[in-house]
Order: sequence, then structure tokens, then C-alpha cells
Amino acid sequence: MGIIYHEKHKTITLHTKNSSYQMKIGNLDYLLHLYYGPSICDADMSYQIMQYDRGFSGNPYESRNSRTFSLDAQPQEFSTQQQGDFRTSSIEVVNADGSYSFHGKVSDYKITKGKYKLDTLPCVFANADDTADSLEITLSDTVSKVDVVLLYSVYEEADIITRAAKVKNNGSESIHLKKIMSVCLDFLNGSDMDILSLPGRYGQERQVERQHMTHHIHTIGSVRGSSSHQQNPFVVLCDKDTDEDFGKCYGFSLMYSGNFLAEAELDQYDQLRLVMGIHPKQFVYEVKPSETFEGPEVVMAFSEHGFTGLTHLYHNFYRTNLCKSKYVSQIQRPVLINSWEAAFMDFDDVKLVEIAKAAKNMGVDLLVMDDGWFGKRDDDNSGLGDWVVNEDKIKCGLHKLVEQINQLGMKFGIWFEPEMVSEDSDLYRAHPEWAMQIPGRHAVRSRNQIALDMSRKDVQDYLIRSVNSILDDADIFYVKWDINRSLADIWSNELPAKKQGEVYHRYILGLYRVMDNIIKTHPDILFEGCSGGGGRYDPAMLHYYPQYWVSDNNHPIDRLKLHYGTSFVYPVSTMGAHISDSGKFVPLKTKAVVAMCGTFGYELDATHLTDEEQAVCREQSDLFRKYYPIIFEGDYYRLSNPFEPGNMTAWQHVTKDKKESLLSVVVTNLTCNGPQEYVKAKGLKPQTMYDVNDGELTLSGNALMNAGLPIPREVDEYTAFQFYMREV
Ligand code: DGJ
Repeated sequence: MGIIYHEKHKTITLHTKNSSYQMKIGNLDYLLHLYYGPSICDADMSYQIMQYDRGFSGNPYESRNSRTFSLDAQPQEFSTQQQGDFRTSSIEVVNADGSYSFHGKVSDYKITKGKYKLDTLPCVFANADDTADSLEITLSDTVSKVDVVLLYSVYEEADIITRAAKVKNNGSESIHLKKIMSVCLDFLNGSDMDILSLPGRYGQERQVERQHMTHHIHTIGSVRGSSSHQQNPFVVLCDKDTDEDFGKCYGFSLMYSGNFLAEAELDQYDQLRLVMGIHPKQFVYEVKPSETFEGPEVVMAFSEHGFTGLTHLYHNFYRTNLCKSKYVSQIQRPVLINSWEAAFMDFDDVKLVEIAKAAKNMGVDLLVMDDGWFGKRDDDNSGLGDWVVNEDKIKCGLHKLVEQINQLGMKFGIWFEPEMVSEDSDLYRAHPEWAMQIPGRHAVRSRNQIALDMSRKDVQDYLIRSVNSILDDADIFYVKWDINRSLADIWSNELPAKKQGEVYHRYILGLYRVMDNIIKTHPDILFEGCSGGGGRYDPAMLHYYPQYWVSDNNHPIDRLKLHYGTSFVYPVSTMGAHISDSGKFVPLKTKAVVAMCGTFGYELDATHLTDEEQAVCREQSDLFRKYYPIIFEGDYYRLSNPFEPGNMTAWQHVTKDKKESLLSVVVTNLTCNGPQEYVKAKGLKPQTMYDVNDGELTLSGNALMNAGLPIPREVDEYTAFQFYMREV
């Protein structure tokens, strides 16, 4: 059992293979946090908690004359509101009497086998061979009759702990939630810690930023209605000297696709608190009597082996416990070509068949018809919402078009942007009230489109019907689900004024309902998520889709950074990566090497390539298929940091049994008469001999990892190398 309650010490310890997490039902039944880090066996960590008089700190009334117990200084599992803890709270609730207060004390706890589930939100699951145990611990406020139920699951082998929080109203009148964090983690000393996050922008998602903690609240979050390009719902807290290979680090990955907030506060006593959950901006959620509100899940991992160790924990876990699509593991993903950068919206059935024919010659398995095939859609001013085939463009009809592609021996895929509507569309003309617009005001325009009010059931049902009907009309193998704007004008015509603070969250719940239905109705379809590139690239989306478009930026040198940042938490098997015309001076082969750090495909007009170029592509597509198991199932190593000065960027995939490995290098800068550079492998068996590139060299793991491979200097800029290593 990964969860142990110790009667005498009143501690509850969560054990994974290499980590422990401990809490305690402490003074006056407050739930205190004691420890998260390397395994502590059955040690009672209560000894760390020192209580002494701290000026200006509040003491719970029940402490009477004792001034030594203050929540302002105690490490807690769930920080309270208006109870003398002035640090960031985990909850803000307006009680039925108008008071802002939550005074939760442990009233119950339950330890069970298996993984808890959430009723309204996606979460990770347990497979038959997982050892997963769960803890449910209730904090009750006896005055307001509000319970907060803290949920934990422990995946022993995977070294993963998940958390979530529910709020239950046991009173007889409504309460209003204004903040509810899914995780609160207090560290007794955080002054030596750094915070790492993945900020970015359109075209430059998930760049890596690391800051030292100082005495203020570091906030990372999104208020764009989606998890966004600008921040990602993932943060790492680490020691200041933690690097790729060494040092402690803690990861927090939030399973939510809407507004989110992570706050890391270094307090007056150098204690560090991390909270993470739904962003409180414009969030006021009514919880009626006997109703329960669920917050999203946070997936936590701890590693003593630097960022690589942390990455491997997330990659292993997300590869097996996040998404149920059969494409996660059973079936090799196809090499695809997408029509977007080939033709934008200017195509017809004939053009698509021409692209497919040329692509077939490049070893491509799947043609994807992107934006422009439906309604009246020749530019981005119109058509969104009308999910009917435009037969002026697809003259032969969808069914026949798919047949023609299938006859070439290729599969067919299609693009949707279900959450949006154009004002110039039949849908908008019929249902203007379905668009999110504040009464009496014009909506903020973004790519000339308005968001649909996904909180409405009739909107959800329309989308389920119209998308399903296209998917049922032809043999569709793949769907790209896109969203191309941030949300503004948050308003639902269906909700009364006092419930408008629920719209952001209800939008996300509605979206999950629609996706869940469409995906479950079509279990054989491969889904890829997209949001103007890689906005909304989050674990909740990856619960539904096995892969996600990393970025609209296909420049291979920019992609080195994009893949580097994304790889911190998301497996390579989720990363949509294509070769395009972007990067004029970058050789085709280098583009292919970079796209092999992902799902591999093409984003160009194949009919414009010469026979020679098509042959290079064919060779690269075949190589991708050959290396697929190493890339998709192996351990991933970042060998260099493209954000730091250097002349090359390198990464590596190693099979779990360490018998095979693929090491890739891109020369990003050629210095005149510079020193010879070597790239050092990682993750190999030290004493085993490896054959490099089918007989070019035979070297031991130790030689490859400690002396490295020399990178030829007499090459053109942006040359790429791949070293395939196989145990002799
Ligand atoms: C944004 C996506 O990232 C692109 O790949 C493409 O699908 C366009 N949307 C289509 O509008």
C-alpha cells in the first residue's frame, strides 16, 4: 500500500518507489504538510515543525493564550482563508451569510485501492498493472457547512502523485467560490529554490525560463480562456544548482485547458508555497446546497536526477496513463502531409489529389485537408460554424474525394475548428445568440471570428451532430481540432446575470463534453489538437488527443527551441512536427531530422518538389518509420540547451532496454577555425559495445558517453547528423 496512516503520530505518508510525501493531522486538527522529497521510509517528519511566538501573526482562537501556533507560519496541505494565514490561499469562498471565510479542519479520511475519478473533468487513469492507491481527506468548516475534500492518488512504480480538490456545500443556501486551488505545497525552506516555467507567444511556444525565488509571489497563468501560447500549465520548483542530470526538482502539471494560475510565494520566513488551479479571474461559481464543485487534477512528480529524471517520469506516465486512444501505443502513427501551407484555403478536389499523388512518392501515408473545405470559406472572414462540405471546391463530394485518396493507398484526414463562428455564416445568421457577445457591445474581433458559447447544451449538441455527421460520411482516418483565438466577451445568453462568473469554466466543461462524445463515437480516428499552432498544449487536451501541433512556426532552427521546451513535460510522441518551406537555407535533410523529434510529416506543396527532393523525402519518411519505436517509446535526452550560446543542438532517444539509440545533432553556427566539438551520448550501458551507423564505428557506452562523437567541421551551416547506435 502506497499510503500509510500512522495512528500514534497522526501522519499520513504517500510512498512512491523513490519519493515520499507526508502530512499530519496536527494541532487542533489542522492538516499540516510535513514533507515531499526522496523516500524517508517510515520516519515521522513532525520534528521539523517548530512553534514559537511570531510577531503579528494570528493564532487560532482555540489556542487561547498560546501564541506559538500560527497558520501564517505552519506548512499546510490546503491554505485557508481568513484564519490568520496571510500568504496565498487555496480557497476563497463567499459563504451564504456573505462572510469570506473557510476554517477547515480534518473531519474524515479514507484510503482506498485504485485511482480516484472526477465526474466533470478529465484525469489520468490507472492501468491493470499499475499499483495505484488513493486518499480522500475531508476538511470541514462547521460554521459555514462547507467541506473541502482533498484527493490524492499515488502511483508507486511511476513515482507520480496526483491531487485534486472538491468543494461540497452541506448548508441550506448557496455559496460562491471565487478561488479553488488544486494543489497547495509548502516547503519549509525555499530561499535556495528556482522556478522554471514555459512562457511563449504565437509561433514561439514553451520557451524555457528559470528564475530564482525572491520574496514576492511569482505568478504564472493564463486569462485567455485557454491554457494559451503565452504560458503553459506546468511549473518546476528546483534547487538552484539543479541541472539536466543532477539535483532535486518538483514538477506540477495541471490537467486543465482554460484559465489557470500557479503562484509561488517565498514568505517572510523563507518558506515557499506553491498553489495551482483554475485562475480566479472572473471566476465566481455558485455551489448550491448539496452540490459539489470539482477542481482539475494536478500531476506531481519529484526527481533527484535533474530535469532529465523529471522529464522521464512525466514522459513514461503520460505515455501510458493519460490518453486512451489506440494510437498511443498499438498502432504506428502515419507520416502525413497537410494542405495548409501548400494551398491555404485556395484548393479544390483536383489540387488535393495532385498533392496526394506527389506525396505518395515521398512515402507519405495520410493526406490532411486543412481549413477551407466547408461552408463559404475562401478567407478567414466567413464560414466557421457551417460544417458542410463546400461543393464548389470539393466538386466530387467528400465521399468520392476520400475514395480517390484511398485508391492511391493513402488515408484521409480533415480539419475542424468547432468552437468558433464567423458572423458571415449560416450558423450565425440562424443563431446569433450562440456567439459569446456581451449584450449591447460589439465583440472583440480576433482573426475575424467569435467564440461560440460552449457552455450551452444546444451549442454542444449542434457541434456533436455536425462534426459526427461529417466523420460518418466518409472514411476519415484523422481529425485536426483547431482553435484560433483567445476568448474575450465572456458571456452566456443562457445564464442569469449572477452566474456570468461561471462562463469561463462552463466553456471548458462544454468543450470536454463535445470532444468526449466525438472521440468516443469514433475510436478509430486519430485526433490531433491544435490552437493556432501550440496554444492550449496541455495534459487535459492530451487526455483526448494522442498528439498536438507544436507550433505554426516550422522553421527548423526555431523548432529546436520549441521541441526542447515542450519536451520538459510532454512526450515526443505527442509533438506534431512537420517539414515545410520555412527555413530557406536549411537543407531538407536537416528539416527531416528536426521533424523526427515528433510525429513527422510535411506541410508544403508536394507538387513543387523536384524528383530529387521527393526522393530525399521518401528516404526520410522511411527512416522515420524505421526509428519510430526508438523515438516514440524510448527515453528522451536533451543533450544541449538551444537557449544557451553554442554551435550545435543535440538530443537523443534511447530504447528502454538501452540496446538501440538515435542521437541527432544540428549544427546551428559555424565558427571560423573553431575548436573541434564532440557530442556526448547519455543513457547507454557503460560497458556495452555499440555499433554506430551500421559499422562506421564500434565504441563502448562509456566511450560514447564520456569522450563523445566528433562532429565534422567541414560542413555547411545547418547540417544535421543522425547517429544510430545498436548494441553489438
Ligand atoms: C492554425 C493552425 O495552426 C494551422 O496549422 C492551420 O490549421 C490554420 N489554423 C488554419 O486556419
